[in-house]
Amino acid sequence: MRIDILTLFPDMFQGPLSESILKRAIEKGAVEIFFHNIRDYANNKHNRVDDYVFGGGAGMVMQIEPIATLIEKLQAERTYNEVIYMTPDGERLAQRLVNTLSLAGNLMILCGHYKGIDQRIRDHFITLEISIGDYVLTGGELAAAVVVDSVVRLIPGVLSDETSALTDSFQDNLLSPPVYTRPAEFRGWKVPDILLSGHDAKIDQWREEQAFKRTKRLRPDLLE
Ligand code: 6GU
Repeated sequence: MRIDILTLFPDMFQGPLSESILKRAIEKGAVEIFFHNIRDYANNKHNRVDDYVFGGGAGMVMQIEPIATLIEKLQAERTYNEVIYMTPDGERLAQRLVNTLSLAGNLMILCGHYKGIDQRIRDHFITLEISIGDYVLTGGELAAAVVVDSVVRLIPGVLSDETSALTDSFQDNLLSPPVYTRPAEFRGWKVPDILLSGHDAKIDQWREEQAFKRTKRLRPDLLE
């Protein structure tokens, strides 16, 4: 998979991408991530990429030309499965969408800032708009990092067997069952006997029951 990220703040991604599973996925070559600073495509010598809102009002809007130039340059080089814009009014990210995106070969992700981007970018270039929840972030970068993390971990070979995505919460619309490790007793707090019993079939059944109970208690909406 190749992911191109269009942003004014490429450094905001360096933390999440340089640790743990994402770092390994990049090192293994399971995903290539390229950053494009929108400011490099400014059409004036002051490197300005925003301007006042037509019709008046507070805040600045990201201009159409630098973004259009950058998107068209990338589209001339390869075909993208989706050209994504991160925005609080987009489709709410959920595991189903993550699963679909994980099958893509090329993704482009545009991060907005200020009051947003010129609507004509959305009308003419964007194929998918994603939000990560009903709250407002300062820009699309943290949300894009969430999309990248959730998608990349599903690429075959990125997770080891122990961390397999098949048993994730949400993958079957159920939360995960509780898990324990040694010691079997701490301050009198015991691990459920069944998990120490060695009966694989009974343990599987217990886990299913626990997943169902937990979902019913914490997220009954997932069972509807
Ligand atoms: Cl994608 N962007 C911003 N700025 N805020 C958000 C968001 C995205 N998703 C939730 N809040």
